[in-house]
Amino acid sequence: MVRLAVNIVGLILASASVLVVSLDNVSGSKRFAQVHPPLPPKSNNPWLTITGNTCHVVNTVLNTTSLSNVQIQLSGTIQYTPNIAYWSANSIPLIYQNATTFWLLGGTNLHLSGGGTIDGNGQIWWDAFASNGNAGVAGASSLTFARPVPLTIGDTHGALIEDLNIINSPSWHDFVINSTNVEYRNINLRSVSFSSSAAANTDGWDIYRSDHVTIRNSVIVNDDDCVSLKPNSTNILVSNLNCNGSHGTSIGSLGQFAGETDIVENVLIENIVMANAQNGARIKVFGGNPSPTSVSGGGTGFVKNVTFLNYRVDNVDNPILIDQCYETAASVCAEFPSKLTISDIHYKNITGTASSAEKGVVVSLECSQPCNDITAQGVSIVPPAPFKAQFVCSNITSINELDFPCQGS
Ligand SMILES: *[C@@H]1O[C@H](CO)[C@@H](O)[C@H](O)[C@H]1NC(C)=O
Ligand SMILES: *[C@@H]1O[C@H](CO)[C@@H](O)[C@H](O)[C@H]1NC(C)=O
Ligand SMILES: *[C@@H]1O[C@H](CO)[C@@H](O)[C@H](O)[C@H]1NC(C)=O
Ligand SMILES: *[C@@H]1O[C@H](CO)[C@@H](O)[C@H](O)[C@H]1NC(C)=O
Ligand SMILES: *[C@@H]1O[C@H](CO)[C@@H](O)[C@H](O)[C@H]1NC(C)=O
Ligand SMILES: *[C@@H]1O[C@H](CO)[C@@H](O)[C@H](O)[C@H]1NC(C)=O
Ligand SMILES: *[C@@H]1O[C@H](CO)[C@@H](O)[C@H](O)[C@H]1NC(C)=O
Ligand SMILES: *[C@@H]1O[C@H](CO)[C@@H](O)[C@H](O)[C@H]1NC(C)=O
Ligand SMILES: *[C@@H]1O[C@H](CO)[C@@H](O)[C@H](O)[C@H]1NC(C)=O
Repeated sequence: MVRLAVNIVGLILASASVLVVSLDNVSGSKRFAQVHPPLPPKSNNPWLTITGNTCHVVNTVLNTTSLSNVQIQLSGTIQYTPNIAYWSANSIPLIYQNATTFWLLGGTNLHLSGGGTIDGNGQIWWDAFASNGNAGVAGASSLTFARPVPLTIGDTHGALIEDLNIINSPSWHDFVINSTNVEYRNINLRSVSFSSSAAANTDGWDIYRSDHVTIRNSVIVNDDDCVSLKPNSTNILVSNLNCNGSHGTSIGSLGQFAGETDIVENVLIENIVMANAQNGARIKVFGGNPSPTSVSGGGTGFVKNVTFLNYRVDNVDNPILIDQCYETAASVCAEFPSKLTISDIHYKNITGTASSAEKGVVVSLECSQPCNDITAQGVSIVPPAPFKAQFVCSNITSINELDFPCQGS
């Protein structure tokens, strides 16, 4: 056991393989402890209990997978060390868009709660990212400069994550991968930069290859998607979110990788307050690409049966947006339209104000191949004066089912 030159007042030994040094009442002194996580105990007992006014500085990867019937109480703080060299080399790779994570949590029937905080120490990462720009292609990280995700739920079947704060995330706050039946409730996410560097790519949630995922009753202050439904997100409910400063509730991006099939199906996103955001209800799909090895468009698949219901938008650049030529040149889309189809999409009761970023354009539904069965009811969004609301459509076959006058086809 490591004894530290600080006022250690508690020691919790939650299991033989987990050592947690508790540092109660040491405000003012250097907070420093080590968590050695590794072998997940296979029992019904809480394996990690971080309680009270404690702060744990975590300097090694948390790889806690294949757990079963485990409760995790987190009511203190976990803070990851701001050690870019260590984490870039050692954070757990998740392959998709070069994402990596500080903590991979997985298993069946997990319950993580307690009102505590996971602090990703993001500022140093945002500053480094701003100066080296090493992002990879449309992803959160590169292979050499990973910006790990503070909490990833992977290969998990049945999990409830509730009453937590996740702050200062280097990139995405939450990632759900290869999982089913995962629910988040009462989560506060906050990543706000105190320098001129943006808190870049700080998505609230990214869902990937997962089915039956629910996110509800949460507050998000960030600088990228509030929620992002990535390839193969099915049966998703997002309900009662307050998103501030984000890039919207997004389906996608999809169709990025040639040879891959991306599906997003059966989605309800409802009761959303979206303030000071780049987008509101958004679908983003790459254009086509003739290269069989493209990593910037050319994938196939579909987006189907998605409802965006009850949105209050305030100062949002693109309140309603379909972009089926995402990060693709218009000339490329004209020659190679997206092969990923979009249909059965419904906007209901979307009201509020746009920013002046797109002048008067408050709705933009632009498909690079025909999009079918897109409907809108109760859409009332006003741009700031002197602009008048404009609605732009391309390749929307159900233009008569939109309750606003869409220019184009
Ligand atoms: C921590 O400080 C609080 C008040 O500041 C005190 O009530 C409590 O007993 C202290 N805890 C320990 C473990 O010393
Ligand atoms: C995480 O732990 C599991 C065993 O629990 C192991 O199979 C896997 O290789 C580990 N992953 C990494 C990235 O260390
Ligand atoms: C991953 O990072 C490498 C650079 O390290 C980059 O070439 C590649 O495009 C990135 N992949 C994705 C999917 O972003
Ligand atoms: C997700 O599934 C893929 C394909 O089976 C696998 O290669 C990858 O390791 C899995 N990742 C996680 C985090 O479960
Ligand atoms: C949104 O965030 C900004 C800056 O972080 C803050 O000034 C503002 O009060 C927040 N607005 C809402 C509605 O939470
Ligand atoms: C998505 O699911 C479909 C159907 O199961 C599968 O063919 C495809 O490979 C999956 N795509 C990804 C990116 O996992
Ligand atoms: C469409 O998705 C919703 C979930 O948002 C689901 O309840 C409904 O059953 C789906 N419709 C069909 C025809 O699958
Ligand atoms: C429309 O959405 C707002 C929230 O933005 C909600 O307060 C209102 O009740 C909804 N209207 C209807 C008719 O459901
Ligand atoms: C509309 O779709 C056709 C293919 O059906 C495509 O050639 C055209 O470029 C699309 N229009 C726009 C504005 O993207």
